[in-house]
Amino acid sequence: MVMDEDVEKTNDVERTHRTEVVDPTKHLHLTWLSLLKFITRNIWSSHKGNCKLKLQSFSKYNAQAATPLREERKKPTNQDDEYADLDWDNLGFGLTPADYMYVMKCSKDGEFTKGELSPFGNIQLSPSAGVLNYGQGVYEGTKAYRKDNGKLLLFRPDQNAIRMQIGAERMLMPSPSVDQFVDAVKQIASANKRWVPPPGKGSLYIRPLLMGSGPVLGLAPAPEYTFIVYASPVGNYFKEGIAALNLFVEEEYVRAAPGGAGGVKSITNYAPVLKALSRAKSRGFSDILYLDAVKKKYLEEASSCNVFVVKGRTISTPATNGTILEGITRKSVMEIASDQGYKVVEKAVHVDEVIDADEVFCTGTAVGVAPVGTITYKDKRVEYETGDESVCQKLRSVLVGIKTGTIEDTKGWVSCIN
Ligand code: COI
Repeated sequence: MVMDEDVEKTNDVERTHRTEVVDPTKHLHLTWLSLLKFITRNIWSSHKGNCKLKLQSFSKYNAQAATPLREERKKPTNQDDEYADLDWDNLGFGLTPADYMYVMKCSKDGEFTKGELSPFGNIQLSPSAGVLNYGQGVYEGTKAYRKDNGKLLLFRPDQNAIRMQIGAERMLMPSPSVDQFVDAVKQIASANKRWVPPPGKGSLYIRPLLMGSGPVLGLAPAPEYTFIVYASPVGNYFKEGIAALNLFVEEEYVRAAPGGAGGVKSITNYAPVLKALSRAKSRGFSDILYLDAVKKKYLEEASSCNVFVVKGRTISTPATNGTILEGITRKSVMEIASDQGYKVVEKAVHVDEVIDADEVFCTGTAVGVAPVGTITYKDKRVEYETGDESVCQKLRSVLVGIKTGTIEDTKGWVSCIN
């Protein structure tokens, strides 16, 4: 959020209106001098081209306080280039904003207005926006891949739309319809095509975000909602690249508790894990495995992904009981594994079972399907099988093949954009 000088001036003008125009008694007592000053200031403002003289009430001002600014980034000039100017061989998971974002708003009536693309840039929010003060927000993550023939592929964006609706309902927010959501994601992929990495080099990570953008003071749902979709080209999520991860079982902090919002993609699930995550990273671990909040004996998930445990031909994963995110990669991998004849079990996975496993791997949109090399629990470090012959690698290569179009999609998971 950047409030530049011109925006502050806009607010100044509006404040002037509130005191000098909206108050009729004061209006009557305007001297010629103050009237002249008032007119001069507003003529100057409209000359600046950034402020419109708006005769509006305070409540209207409030309702408009979260209007996004369409500014900062100028319309890209090299739109016709097939690729953006980027080092495609060294993509990590940092933000490299693609040209366009998509914005759609919804007021109290629950109806979203027609969304539109605009150059990626900062947005303006009231300091009292619901999302900033009370965390009323959910987000999604999905990826677009480039095929050899130049077409773009999206993986199950309808599932993200449905998950956003479920999350929004939990956080008492209206949400876009599945069609609105998928259409926005398609528009973002297509408008930002030059930011989609060459085949095999990564993907365009697309981040749909729904937030209470209207102002509140007391704890209440926001009076206005904003749905934004932006995108960034990405490579591997972890600095380990495709190497196996080293996980640490966290016994002090928990990620989610029964009855909370751990099962949905609420923004409030992420900042609370940062402390434990940064402590683990400073000790050389890639991520944390959380235990259940009640007994601290059963596996939940990692900070950024779901977890699977392999023993023989059985693959187990913690059952989604309200504290575990219903990952789209998670359920896709479960289906692929069943198709391949593995026994797939969703259940409460005891931490001792993990210690005894042949393999452990993680799944998530950002993470993909990532092998776990070691898990450290109570000062004991356990090693797992990894490598080309691992179950993880076999499932990963099928999923990646379907997503990138090198394996035929018999499940209707992939949508193609020209
Ligand atoms: C994703 O996998 O898309 C996520 O939202 C995880 C996030 C921590 C990057």
